[in-house]
Amino acid sequence: MDFKGKTVLVTGSTRGIGKAIANAFAMYGADVVITGRNRIAAESIAKVIESEYGVKAYGVHLDLAGDVSSSIEEIFSLTNNKIDILVNNAGITKDTLFIRMKQEDWDTVLSVNLTGTFKVTQAVVKNMIKQRYGRVINISSIIGFIGNVGQINYSTTKAGLIGFTKSLAKEVASRNITVNAVAPGFIETDMTEVLTADIKEGYLKQIPLGRFGKPEDIANVVLFLASDMASYITGEVIHVNGGMY
Ligand code: NAI
Repeated sequence: MDFKGKTVLVTGSTRGIGKAIANAFAMYGADVVITGRNRIAAESIAKVIESEYGVKAYGVHLDLAGDVSSSIEEIFSLTNNKIDILVNNAGITKDTLFIRMKQEDWDTVLSVNLTGTFKVTQAVVKNMIKQRYGRVINISSIIGFIGNVGQINYSTTKAGLIGFTKSLAKEVASRNITVNAVAPGFIETDMTEVLTADIKEGYLKQIPLGRFGKPEDIANVVLFLASDMASYITGEVIHVNGGMY
């Protein structure tokens, strides 16, 4: 795989799956834009990537819950208006049982996972249309397919991302832009670190491959979907869950 000459924007790439995805692209020669709510963290990761892989890496503040326009402007000015690959990775949970869920818990998760993705993707895809090239990869979740107790808000957004993926794929296919999704199962990151040992044990029993996934398991599939090997795949979702679903 060779991503030399390509520029990749990954949302929420200061840790976890997003950071692994950014690293993987840099390893194969892409310039990368690291983004997160913490600019200093994003800049320091970008510095490490530059020295490790000899590519260009930029660290930019991008908060999906707020107004993204100035961050997008900054990203385009740093990259000379060139984003070839967009990975919509940032996502949050605010778990509680449905009957106890406050509207604020619902609104916060929707505003980051869905509305934030809408805002960033619209700005980037407008530019991809001009370039007549683009790859958009959305990180959904197994929970969008099987549901989960205490995660009505989160599963709604992750199922919503599939509709988003399939509709956008149809709208932009004629411009040489593909739009796909990856639906991870249980991946070892800070997001899942907070779960109790009992809950983790319960998940592990449901995974035929007998282990939790690593962020790199997701990054590998994202690389494939962004590569020329996947140029005839669009509107698709790839499940990466050790056989759990
Ligand atoms: P994480 O919590 O370690 O990382 C999430 C990233 O999103 C962080 O970099 C965080 O700073 C960023 N983020 C959070 N709110 C943001 C906001 N308002 N604006 C911009 N960035 C924001 O989580 P993890 O596990 O790396 O998850 C990455 C994606 O993968 C998420 O969309 C998550 O829903 C999805 N996923 C994770 C699974 C897992 O088992 N870890 C399973 C299925 C899906």
